[in-house]
Amino acid sequence: MKRIVVTGGAGFIGSNFVKYILGLYPDYSVHVLDKLTYAGNMANLESCRGERNFSFQKGDICNKRDVDEACRNADWIVNFAAETHVDRSISSPQAFVETDVLGTYILLEAVKEFKIERYVQISTDEVYGSIDRGSFTEESPLNPSSPYAASKAGADLLALSSWTTYRLPVLITRSSNNYGPYQHPEKFIPLFITNALEDRQLPLYGDGLNVRDWLYVRDNCTAIDLILHKGKEGEIYNVGANEEKKNLDVVHLILAYLGKQESLIRHVTDRKGHDRRYSLNSSKLRKLGWKPEANFEKSLKQTVAWYTENVEWWKKIKGGEFQEYYRRHYDL
Ligand code: NAD
Ligand code: DAU
Repeated sequence: MKRIVVTGGAGFIGSNFVKYILGLYPDYSVHVLDKLTYAGNMANLESCRGERNFSFQKGDICNKRDVDEACRNADWIVNFAAETHVDRSISSPQAFVETDVLGTYILLEAVKEFKIERYVQISTDEVYGSIDRGSFTEESPLNPSSPYAASKAGADLLALSSWTTYRLPVLITRSSNNYGPYQHPEKFIPLFITNALEDRQLPLYGDGLNVRDWLYVRDNCTAIDLILHKGKEGEIYNVGANEEKKNLDVVHLILAYLGKQESLIRHVTDRKGHDRRYSLNSSKLRKLGWKPEANFEKSLKQTVAWYTENVEWWKKIKGGEFQEYYRRHYDL
């Protein structure tokens, strides 16, 4: 029996993880602490409502009182809470520094104060920056390009230093790009699927030849689960599936699955500081026993089907604050 606090549990990966854990460990309890920013969505946790071992608290990881209330009786903490969209970090960086850096610091203070047994910091491959050839290992230097990536790198360093200085039981996961159900439609794959479903243009940055290493969200959940239970304190684990794809190739697949025309693709001004390629060496995690199950083409097809079947879920999001953001950002 473990009591796990999951911060950011109403977001994309967090909500997938909460459901995964509740399904696998009926004797564990999960307490979600989430600020419900524009990216947080209670609909993502609909199936957990009423479960005896699930609880939810609306709160901010930057607020010590909220964090103390959530963590006082916890055994483990998994921190997904973050501002996560690179484009928004370029136009409005402050929230990224606040939540991603200060919020992580407040959580680490709670780990110290309440003698938490294990703390997993959910980080990202973006802390390494871009790589033309080869793959990043956990020893690669940090070289973040965006305010988002820099804030996540700051959080990683705080977490690692709390292991060195106080021996706090922290572990770090650095995963590549996730895709799957419940991802906010501001992100590349769901944006392009839902725009295509609406016969709207697909705003592809630059030449569309940037490469991302795609990880199905369920495979990330199995990785985090393994690291939470079996990982070594003070260690970093890369999580990548070796499914590197050019953005343009992903778009072609999405259009083919939906039976839509390539004329929907619109090349738009490139993202500032756009990382060309991400690639992770995950052999350390594989040695611990992890293996991704998903095949990219098959899981992308399933993801396209999920968005096709869950129009109400994404229409609600695209109809709100998002419309204003979209107009401002894309000018389309
Ligand atoms: P998301 O944007 O879908 O969800 C983030 C969640 O955090 C939301 O529910 C939001 O309400 C909550 N949140 C934001 N600020 C908060 C605060 N101050 N206090 C409490 N809650 C707050 O994000 P995601 O894509 O699910 O990413 C989750 C984590 O995984 C992040 O830490 C991100 O950096 C990391 N990550 C994501 C990816 C990816 O491809 N999505 C890849 C690698 C790492
Ligand atoms: O690599 C892990 C990271 O993946 C996570 O840490 C971030 O939280 C997550 O948002 C994601 O960052 P990216 O910037 O790689 O993802 P995004 O979905 O924003 O973009 C993926 C690729 O698609 C990237 O090369 C930019 C491109 N793109 C994106 C958008 C939103 C477009 O061409 N057009 C778009 O409109």
